[in-house]
Amino acid sequence: MSIYRFVRPLLFFLPPETAHQLTLRCLKLLYRMRLIKPKVYAGDGIKLLGMYFPNRIGLAAGFDRNGEFIDALSTLGFGHIEIGTVTPAPQAGKSKPRLFRLKSQHALINRMGFANKGVDYVLAQLKKTRYRGILGINIGKNPDTPNDIAVNDYLDCMRKLYPYANYLTINISSPNTENLRQLQHDDLLYTLLSTLKAEQHILAGKHHRYVPLLVKLAPDLNDSELKAIADILQVCKIDGIVLSNTSLARPLPEDTKYAEQAGGLSGRAITDLSCNALRSLTKYLQEDLPIIALGGIYCEKTAYERLANGASLYQIYTSLIYQGPGIIKRLAKFMEQA
Ligand SMILES: Cc1cc2nc3c(=O)[nH]c(=O)nc-3n(C[C@H](O)[C@H](O)[C@H](O)COP(=O)(O)O)c2cc1C
Repeated sequence: MSIYRFVRPLLFFLPPETAHQLTLRCLKLLYRMRLIKPKVYAGDGIKLLGMYFPNRIGLAAGFDRNGEFIDALSTLGFGHIEIGTVTPAPQAGKSKPRLFRLKSQHALINRMGFANKGVDYVLAQLKKTRYRGILGINIGKNPDTPNDIAVNDYLDCMRKLYPYANYLTINISSPNTENLRQLQHDDLLYTLLSTLKAEQHILAGKHHRYVPLLVKLAPDLNDSELKAIADILQVCKIDGIVLSNTSLARPLPEDTKYAEQAGGLSGRAITDLSCNALRSLTKYLQEDLPIIALGGIYCEKTAYERLANGASLYQIYTSLIYQGPGIIKRLAKFMEQA
């Protein structure tokens, strides 16, 4: 029986954000005391995006937004870790409380609003880390940067973080930064991505290393929106897709506590939404564009379903909160045997 069964009631007694910080700090302490060591679970490894992922399961962005806990998190067995979202300037985010547990649904609603300590702080953390596994860095824009010049924020983060990333994720799908999701469409998307791709070319020459650029999308896009986005991603030769972020939809029973809170929904409640978006999107991709799937993955079946529908890797966030680190081993082992 996992120790998390006993720890979880204590953590759930605390406000969600406090519990999160406390867990990360304890993990870091255990790491520093050398009581836990880096590990990666054996799984069905895969070569993708020019590197080898030792198993298919990764940690989603938002868990370690400032890159302060990378070494500690490397003890959990993930095949890759994505940090961020990082913005150029430090960002306090929305006022608290801004994270809610919808316990009966194994779901969360958050409106963190890109709370992070800014790119220079994250850079300092990256210089200290001993982690040698696959690191994705998720980048965004400050909320007060208008969309027509948002590219400058992404460029700023990209130039600074490029040497430290194994891949970069362009986050244009957080529901908690006003109008951010407009960047997923038409000219705004094309201009953003073509500029970032041109910069990637320059940076690859400068650093003698090609760092793939992925785009993180919302699960709330309809079929025609996904088709238009797929076309632009392919024209721009984007290296991969991360699908999905949290949802603005509320596919929840009526009496669910906190359901009315503003923010992005994650966890079991968005499993179908996210998987359906994946199914739609893959219809419109001519080539095999690598996809990292996430959104409500909480068991072997939901993980397998994403792989069967075109994803090559997947990530978790909310199921780690509800089930603890045992889920990482379970999913990695399951895929090894599948
Ligand atoms: C508290 C919280 C904070 C998050 N912060 C970010 C973030 O900063 N950047 C991002 O791209 N996604 C963020 N996410 C979204 C997750 O990375 C993920 O896309 C989403 O939660 C769906 O996966 P899940 O159902 O496994 O949680 C956040 C999610 C939660 C619950």
